[in-house]
Amino acid sequence: MDNIAGSPVEGGNFYGRAEVVAHLRGILEHDDILLLGPRRIGKTSTARAVMTAVRNEGWRALEINVAACTNERDFIAKLEAALKPELASFSEKARSLAGDAFDKITGRIKSIKIPIPGAGSFGVDIGEADAEEWTVVASDVLRLISHAEERWMIYIDELPIMLFNIIRNDKQSGVQRVRRFLDWFRNDVRALPDVRRVRWLVSGSVGLDTLVQEHGMADTINSMRHQGLTAYKDEVAVAMLAELAESYKIELSDVDARHIVAAVQWPQPYYLQMAFHHLRALICEYPDDSPASLIDQAMEIMVQPGGDNDFHHWEIRLSIQLGRADADIAMALLNMAARDPLGARAENLLDAVQERMPGSTAEEAKRAFIRLRDILIRDAYWWADETSGVKRYRFRLEPLRRWWIRRDTL
Ligand SMILES: Nc1ncnc2c1ncn2[C@@H]1O[C@H](COP(=O)(O)OP(=O)(O)OP(=O)(O)O)[C@@H](O)[C@H]1O
Ligand SMILES: [Mg+2]
Repeated sequence: MDNIAGSPVEGGNFYGRAEVVAHLRGILEHDDILLLGPRRIGKTSTARAVMTAVRNEGWRALEINVAACTNERDFIAKLEAALKPELASFSEKARSLAGDAFDKITGRIKSIKIPIPGAGSFGVDIGEADAEEWTVVASDVLRLISHAEERWMIYIDELPIMLFNIIRNDKQSGVQRVRRFLDWFRNDVRALPDVRRVRWLVSGSVGLDTLVQEHGMADTINSMRHQGLTAYKDEVAVAMLAELAESYKIELSDVDARHIVAAVQWPQPYYLQMAFHHLRALICEYPDDSPASLIDQAMEIMVQPGGDNDFHHWEIRLSIQLGRADADIAMALLNMAARDPLGARAENLLDAVQERMPGSTAEEAKRAFIRLRDILIRDAYWWADETSGVKRYRFRLEPLRRWWIRRDTL
């Protein structure tokens, strides 16, 4: 097993989530999936494993990453580009059913009518007076693919980023366009005959759920089955570390592996891979020291602010998905919770919200706290620990807590 900490993993490197893949595959039989979760928890690796699983059953599967898309046309162009190589293997019958529609689609995508930021929702690209509405072309692309006899899985990675891009770039009608996009996805796509054989897996690391709730469009994504990726059970985490250690000929005892898992606390594979990566580097540097004696140092290197780590995404994500005022309050709450590995008491956190909302009633502050608390639970920043008899909100991922407190310390 390779010590990969960053890029999606596959084959023998995809560890411990076969059951998750089987579960997701099962859902796709009848439903579409919305797979949301923080950065690096393994969304892409898992989605690709699901693609492999359905391909083995004879489905066709496409992947598009739409993080760089800033409008609806970019989205369809991505879809078409992924589709092109598939077309080559369509049967004669499928090709003849589609007629010359295949050849025309590229030109149609180029001249799609999309709203121009600032020009209101009816702006049209210059010189494209007879251009079509993007939804018409998008639906036609789907009709084309449904000519193939096989079932399809379309995996759209980072959809929320694209939707946030649209909102950011088009202050006037961005929200309306996002609603139209999601409505198209939910209603128009379902209404297409034969497109029932197309299943979707949509994933993303910034809260699509927050976005739709804030703008009152939760109905648009409710038809998808919402899924997340839970951390490994401790036993699985320990076994993965043992397997890595064996691959790299490192003597790591069961106790050492448990020590790492305890230091991570939320054993998502990425953080285990990171911890192992730093440990491996230290072992090379200090070959005379035992691995056990280097674990704490490895964990420390992992949380160095400004170091080679991904924790800043956790911070950036708050400001992407929450408004400025909410993001500031959420930061303050997390700063408080980070001070103690056991977290902060609910009443103290509520007091902090009240202080930051002068002029609001106690009830308003309480509502604000509850709303943000739930977002922070759902997005895996913290959890409510009641084991001591008082409710405390504490970080899930201990290295994140340590990183958080260091970046908040003079
Ligand atoms: N099943 C797995 N087995 C082993 N390692 C894994 C597994 N899934 C994820 N990882 C670890 O997590 C890292 C990130 O995986 P992946 O790119 O799939 O996550 P992601 O959620 O799509 O991330 P991003 O939000 O950055 O796109 C991998 O490089 C690897 O270290
Ligand atoms: Mg990914």
